[in-house]
Amino acid sequence: MRVLVTGAAGRVGANMVRRLRAAGADVRAMVLPGDPQRAKLDGLDGVEIVEADLGDQSAVDAATRGVTHVVHLAAQLVRGDTPVDRFYDVNAFGTLRLLEGVVKSGGVERFLLASTDGTYRPGDPPLVPLPEDAPQVPADYYGTAKLLGEVILRNHAVQYDIPFAITRFATVLDPAEARRYFRVASVRTMLRRVELGRDSNIWPLFRQNPELAELFDDAVGDAADDVAVGLTGPDGPWSIHLLDVRDAVEGLYLALTVPAATGRAFNITAAEPTTFEDGADVVAELDGVPRLSVRLPLTWRLEMAVDAARDILGYRPRHDFRAMVESAIAAESGGTGATDSFVPARI
Ligand SMILES: NC(=O)c1ccc[n+]([C@@H]2O[C@H](COP(=O)([O-])OP(=O)(O)OC[C@H]3O[C@@H](n4cnc5c(N)ncnc54)[C@H](O)[C@@H]3O)[C@@H](O)[C@H]2O)c1
Repeated sequence: MRVLVTGAAGRVGANMVRRLRAAGADVRAMVLPGDPQRAKLDGLDGVEIVEADLGDQSAVDAATRGVTHVVHLAAQLVRGDTPVDRFYDVNAFGTLRLLEGVVKSGGVERFLLASTDGTYRPGDPPLVPLPEDAPQVPADYYGTAKLLGEVILRNHAVQYDIPFAITRFATVLDPAEARRYFRVASVRTMLRRVELGRDSNIWPLFRQNPELAELFDDAVGDAADDVAVGLTGPDGPWSIHLLDVRDAVEGLYLALTVPAATGRAFNITAAEPTTFEDGADVVAELDGVPRLSVRLPLTWRLEMAVDAARDILGYRPRHDFRAMVESAIAAESGGTGATDSFVPARI
């Protein structure tokens, strides 16, 4: 197996490259020209690093030459100052360019695309939990561009007989990132996305409730940023599905290699969602910080069904939120993590 991994210096990519090497695959790791994060791939045997921008067809063509499998992770994720058309150019047309490269190179045994829960309208999910056949009606540029990537892949797969699979991830975190979750600072940052207006990927959450950030600030007062905080609404606690990057790469590996995955999409996430109350309990207990709970006028739940990945791929995620935080604490104190090692999202 000779695998092209795009986005190889990213949060998921650097971990996937190592997962593939552990399975004995040869890896071609595609990184953005000049990306300082490529240092994450330093010193790995059996890994060829190529620089290519998904906007550059000839570079993409060269990257696809001679590979048997593609794991397509490269994407534009963060809005910030990013022009809107870049989401479409990278996530939709970049996927098209990669597929064109694959066709010119004579095809592959499997093309695996990483997609997202963002294609299901995360700010106003149509179902709880979301199965793979839930309506995909995203409300922002990122989700829409990722969905277009899925559609373009399905089209090319039919036209050129490309065996494919799609993984739709929940929020992917490395353990160090998880450790910052369910705290005053991180919840405030999430609720302040209201200030981005319709540039936020969860803007429908704020449509009827523009005051969530203010209510939160009033409730927590001058509590320190690292204080643990749960959120509850009239229909129970808020919840979110988080995915440890180590489980993300297991899901990818299975979707790449299990024959029955061909032609299907799979939600990939933790075995269970985490409520904001349970998450705050874990943070307070493991980090010894005070614990608050805030009541808000609605309940937001972003949860995915993982039955298809479990039943068809044999996917068994091993890291719930507690395990992620334990890994982060162990890694910080010089250990290798509670279960296995990971490459942090940024170095
Ligand atoms: N992180 C999440 O919470 C999350 C959730 C759902 C789905 N996903 C999907 O998983 C995949 C991996 O995400 P991640 O968290 O590792 O993201 P990341 O931002 O850490 O990595 C993405 C990589 O893509 C590269 N890239 C961006 N534009 C490029 C271009 N024009 N040409 C070549 N490379 C380019 C970046 O340099 C980066 O290394 C993405 O497809 C993303 O849409 C991520």
